[in-house]
Amino acid sequence: MSTYIRQSVQDLQAYTPGEQPQVEGLIKLNTNENPYPPSPAVARALREFAADSLRLYPDPVCRTLRERIAAVEGCAVEQVFVGNGSDEVLRLATRAFTQPGGAVAAVDPTYSLYPVLAAAEEVGYRTVPLPEGFGWIEPPAALDASLFFLANPNAPTGVFYPVETIRAFCRQFKGVVLVDEAYVAFSGGRDCLALAKDLPNVLVCRTLSKSFSLAGLRLGYAIGSAELIGAMYKLKDSYNVDRLAQALALAALGDVPWMQDNARRIVATRERVAAELVKRGFRVIPSGANFLFVEPPAGTAAADLFADLRIKNILVRYFPGERTGRYLRVSIGTDAQMDAFLAAL
Ligand SMILES: Cc1ncc(COP(=O)(O)O)c(C=O)c1O
Repeated sequence: MSTYIRQSVQDLQAYTPGEQPQVEGLIKLNTNENPYPPSPAVARALREFAADSLRLYPDPVCRTLRERIAAVEGCAVEQVFVGNGSDEVLRLATRAFTQPGGAVAAVDPTYSLYPVLAAAEEVGYRTVPLPEGFGWIEPPAALDASLFFLANPNAPTGVFYPVETIRAFCRQFKGVVLVDEAYVAFSGGRDCLALAKDLPNVLVCRTLSKSFSLAGLRLGYAIGSAELIGAMYKLKDSYNVDRLAQALALAALGDVPWMQDNARRIVATRERVAAELVKRGFRVIPSGANFLFVEPPAGTAAADLFADLRIKNILVRYFPGERTGRYLRVSIGTDAQMDAFLAAL
């Protein structure tokens, strides 16, 4: 017990990010990073970046970057919020779209940051348990929450929910639905952007961390009605996206075909590895993301396999717990990395 620290912070179970070990030769398949480099346009922008400009604060509202995003996504600048990674967008949404004593909801399992954000905001967290196989289940109509986090494709399962299913849910949910599309570039051109444009209660959240190979940059954005976007702008830090991030993100978003090519390669590798794992007796949850959620064959505990792979310098992700503990989440690396993974199995 500390008298210095707010009670809810004392009680908070902090989010556990995937490990980032500095181990020579480690094959890192644990945090869904992209194995391919970002567009050469990003490297060029980095070389040309004037260090002297760092004397000055960045544009507080990321005007130029938002114009680029608006052009890429086909919406108005006022419909775009830019954040320091999509994690910041999610945090601001939790604050903006809940009342004191209110609640957030999400399916279970899903991105394990969501309950942490709810607890930090001192609001409730309601879960809708997914059925076996993690397919869609209609949340109860009377769900007592004003914000629904819906990762699509979901994490850590990789399951992609059809856009029309989500549209029907958004229409009946009385609060804000934030469709977290961190992995959408790997789901074959299907996304929920139209919902954010058509419906007043829907936000779509994207990140440059996965498909644009820029996890180290920290850049995420949300698209939705000017009303919802404006609420998040009221709450953000004055200068939430630094100058370098704005410049490099602008370069990355100027070369969408580069990102799409990488995404296609990753999807091809994912399908090859999935088929190979099925041959070897794994249960593979069909994935629309840059990772696979797999259950090892009978007789092999996921936790043991995780530990054995670790000894062989291959790092995947294991989420203990009743719903997820039988599975491993394996990020898709290069073909060579995945061959090493398969060989190690
Ligand atoms: C579903 C989901 N949303 C958001 C994020 C965070 O993305 P960012 O790096 O933009 O904060 C992750 C990262 O793992 C994720 O899995």
